Amino acid sequence: MKNIVVLVSGNGSNLQAIIDACESGQVQAKVTAVFSNKAEAYGLERAKNHSIAAHSLSAQHFLDSDGKPDRVAFDAELMNQIDAYQPDLIILAGYMRILSPDFVQHYLGRMMNIHPSLLPKYSGLHTHQRAIDAGDNEHGTSVHFVTEELDGGPVILQAKVPVFDDDSADDLAQRVLVQEHQIYPLVVQWFIDGRLAMKEQLAYLDNQPLGLHGYAEE
Ligand code: GAR
Repeated sequence: MKNIVVLVSGNGSNLQAIIDACESGQVQAKVTAVFSNKAEAYGLERAKNHSIAAHSLSAQHFLDSDGKPDRVAFDAELMNQIDAYQPDLIILAGYMRILSPDFVQHYLGRMMNIHPSLLPKYSGLHTHQRAIDAGDNEHGTSVHFVTEELDGGPVILQAKVPVFDDDSADDLAQRVLVQEHQIYPLVVQWFIDGRLAMKEQLAYLDNQPLGLHGYAEE
């Protein structure tokens, strides 16, 4: 059975969707460990509730000789601990930390992220508010392979949601999450089935290169 390691920083509802999909057989793999950079992340509780190993690593314990945060040392230790599980796939599910280039290269082609916007629109933070402020009438979410460019790796699948006039950022976030819980397990199963690959900055599904917006592009 293929095995998956998931990285979270917060609530972990996407983690939950993936655990549930593994338990129901929709995803034919097992989540073997969950890591968080925040000890208080509820995602760690979700892991424990399913008897999945739950680890947290605090950036405060990784400082350089000047007492500044040492991202390379943090990521090296995280890599070490992740690799003990020999994962086939690394899933970022609300993991809110910039990754070092070494970390990205180590997992290139076998690490995915879900980002709450219709990439390439709105990489970075506050995506829901930015969509509202721009007067967009549609918004959404993207699953993509992770490359060294923040939120810039090739998109695999997107889901769209409408934006209504009286929406708050939180309303929109909730609407987007519902879609995320549908598309992330689906894409994970494509990967587990060996249907997905990344080559030279492009995502391929069944050997067909995907476009800017991934599968089912209009
Ligand atoms: C999700 O909406 C995910 O797209 C977003 O954080 C939320 C996590 O929710 N990720 C990012 O913004 C990454 N740049 P969850 O913890 O309930 O899965």
